[in-house]
Parts: sequence; C-alpha cells; structure tokens
Amino acid sequence: MGPLHGDVTVRGSKNAVTKHMVAAVLGNSPSTVRNCPHIGDIEITAAMLRALGCQVDVDADGGIVHVEPNHIETGRVPVSYGGLNRIPVLLVGPLLHRMGEVFVPLVGGDRIGPRPLDFHMASLEAMGAEVQVTPEGLEAKALGLHGARIRLPFPSVGATETVLLTAVLAEGRTVVENSAIEPEVIELALFLQRMGARIELRPDRRFVIEGVERLEGAEHHLDGDRIEAFSYLVAGLVTRGRVRVHGCAQGRLVTAISTLHRMGARFEITDDWLAVSADSLRPAVVQTDTHPGFMTDWQSPLVVLFTQCQGMSVLHETVYEDRFPYVRALQTMGAEVELFDSCLGGSNCRFHETTAMHSAVVRGPSLLQGAEITVPDIRGGFGYVIAAAAAKGPSLLHDVHHLERGYHRPLEAFAQLGLHISREGPTAPS
Ligand code: EPU
Repeated sequence: MGPLHGDVTVRGSKNAVTKHMVAAVLGNSPSTVRNCPHIGDIEITAAMLRALGCQVDVDADGGIVHVEPNHIETGRVPVSYGGLNRIPVLLVGPLLHRMGEVFVPLVGGDRIGPRPLDFHMASLEAMGAEVQVTPEGLEAKALGLHGARIRLPFPSVGATETVLLTAVLAEGRTVVENSAIEPEVIELALFLQRMGARIELRPDRRFVIEGVERLEGAEHHLDGDRIEAFSYLVAGLVTRGRVRVHGCAQGRLVTAISTLHRMGARFEITDDWLAVSADSLRPAVVQTDTHPGFMTDWQSPLVVLFTQCQGMSVLHETVYEDRFPYVRALQTMGAEVELFDSCLGGSNCRFHETTAMHSAVVRGPSLLQGAEITVPDIRGGFGYVIAAAAAKGPSLLHDVHHLERGYHRPLEAFAQLGLHISREGPTAPS
C-alpha cells in the first residue's frame, strides 16, 4: 500500500481517563473530565460505576465524561464486570472509604504476562484493609484506613494508583517509595490534588500523601495520549510517508523522539503538532522501561518499524514477560523476527535468567505481505494495522474490538491518512 500522509488529532489517554473516573468516586460532588477519547474502556468503566449507583454521562463526540458519585449504594462491583479491564482493583480503596466493605471481580486487560495484584493487596493491607482473594475476585473490608510507609518492589503504575486513591482519604501520612511516575500517574495525582488531596512528589520516586477528611469533585482537561501519538508517527514512517500528530505535547514523547532520532528520523516540532519523516532508517537497540524510559506500550509499533530498517535491531522488553505473542503474525507476513529468553541490550531486568521470551531480534528490511490475522490485544493489534498499511496486498483483521477499547476512532484516523480500511461486523461498545 502507499505512504500514509496527513493529520491526526489524539485525545486524552485510556490509561488516564478511566483512573480519573475512579477518582471521581472519592468526591462529595460531581467531577468532569474533558478531552476524553471515544473508547470502549470508558463505556466499561462507566457501566461499572453505574452499577454502584453513580450517575455517569458520557458525551463521546464532545469528549466529556461527567461522574456524579453521591448516590453510591453498594461497594460490590458485579461479577459480570470481571475480566474486562484493570479498573476493578483500583476501585477497592475508594469504595472502602465510602462503604467499608467491597467486592471487586477479577481484573482483566490484555494477556501480556501474569499481571498479579500482590503489590496492590500488600499496599491496601498496610493501610489497614483486610483483603481476601476468592475464586471470583477480591473481598475487602476496613473499619478505617490509615497512612502507611510502603515500598513497591517495582514501580507499578496500577499499584501506585491504588496507593494514591486510597491514601488521599486515609488518616495520617502515607509514604510510597519506588512509585511509578508515568505521566498518566502524575495526571491522576494532579486531579486528586484538584479534588483537595495533599500529595507531594519527592525527587526519588517517592509520593508523600497526607490524608484529608473530604474531597470535592473537580474538572480536568486530559493531556494527549502518548501511545497513540507515537503509533501514528510510526505508521507514517513505516509506509515512508509523513504523519503530523496534534494534541500530544512534545514533553510526553521525549524518549520516543530521541529513539527515532537515533534511527535517522527527521522531526518537525511546534507547540501544536509533531511530524516525522525519513529517507531511510538505521536499526537500533532499544530497551523498554518505566518512565522516563522507552515505554512498553510503544514496543509493537517500533518492532514493526524495525522490519523496515536496513539491518539488525533489538528490542529488550523489561516491563512485561509475555509481550511478544503478536510477533507470530508478523512472521507470517514476512517479517524476520526471532525471540530469545536472554536479556539482549541490557541486564537490569526482572526476567534475567528466566524462560520468558522477552527479547526480539529483527532483521530488516522485509517485504511484508497482507495476511488474515486475529488481534490478540490492544497494542499488538495496532502494530498489525501499521504492518498491514506497509504490506503488499490486503489484510483481514479479526477481533478489532481490542483496538476500539483503547484507541480513539482508529478507522477514521487511518482513513484520513489515506489507508483503505473498512470494518465489518458488530461495532465497539458504545
Ligand atoms: N506487577 C506485579 N504485581 C502487582 C502489580 C504489577 O508483579 O501487584 C508487575 C506486572 O506484572 C508488570 C509490572 O509490574 O510486570 C508493571 O505493571 P504495572 O502495574 O505498572 O501495569 P498496570 O498498571 O497493570 C498500566 C497500563 C498498561 C501499561 C503499564 C506500564 C493501565 C490500565 N494499564 O498497567 O497499559 O503497559 O501500566 O506502563 O493503566 C495498555 O494500555 O495496553 C497497557 C497494557
């Protein structure tokens, strides 16, 4: 297919908006979140909050989500919401504050590794909750939550958010060391601060939270999605085109930009947009990491880009142990990718000397052929669309609902860039 050219505007990210919706549960008045994407994950989260008694209004076109939490009548999230996304566990702290007793079903989300909840549970227990795992989910209760000193074994995004969402109304001071400081976590902390929370971020990945007695609702305009922004920029590069992305600040893409720079890409950057193009691209050795490293969710577009670079590239995944299953379909499209259990490109990795296939070696350039593929997860799936855009001949993708759970109207965006793309079958949840 031909080069992709044109403009894409990204909205706020899936991984920020849903957490803001959870934070809204802590307020004594309604909250409004703006610049929200139109994605399935908002609908899933809204339905979950409605099942608790919240009133949630979603204006998908206007990008506005409004949560009125004052009529919460139960702390039990129905089992039917199990396995759909990562949000239920984040509701435990806020619902404990409101109801004292909580049930949340097993979390889902993409199958990219075991994704245990041990850090969440240990943190909740340190703050005074009794937590029990049942075959269906988590039962928790607390007479009153208190501050604690917590050190996370790994800077987990979700566990840091669990601590923030619980500590803000807990009695006393909570110190959480080795926190995640991803931009989406900071956005959540800022939103909580607007609600009246007392949160400080110290220089050494340490949040210090002084519990307050009450929080009010707040308003927030979300910052642009850095995963979508990077993915569309790469879609332009992979097809030897030029995509201009609006709506995501340069500051959220620093490592992505420097990585593509190293590979020979040329950037144009203004206050309003970023564009990237290249005549030819060099291979690279890249390791995914926690912020400010190269984020794991940028991995699949980059691997697809590697298939079009001249030479051998390496991707060492250090956040998830099983994030390469999507590679098999790329191989059937003609990509030369091999997976290894060794740490290639760095040794500071929790999967060192395990059997996790967490390093990929990619030899390019490959002439990709269109294929029939089943989308396994959100990010791998987007990688396939990019690969299909660069491939010779048409591709047929099944299970594209995964994409619609996390990307704002991807069909429209790709069509605007000149990709011949259409959708059959039931549409995403609305
Ligand atoms: N981990 C544990 N125990 C825990 C929590 C995490 O061992 O209790 C491990 C995980 O298994 C993983 C690592 O710590 O190996 C990092 O997990 P983290 O908790 O940071 O991830 P998450 O909160 O479940 C969020 C995003 C992911 C993103 C990661 C890393 C959401 C809903 N999901 O997941 O996004 O990759 O942080 O930045 O915010 C996606 O959007 O497609 C996606 C997977």
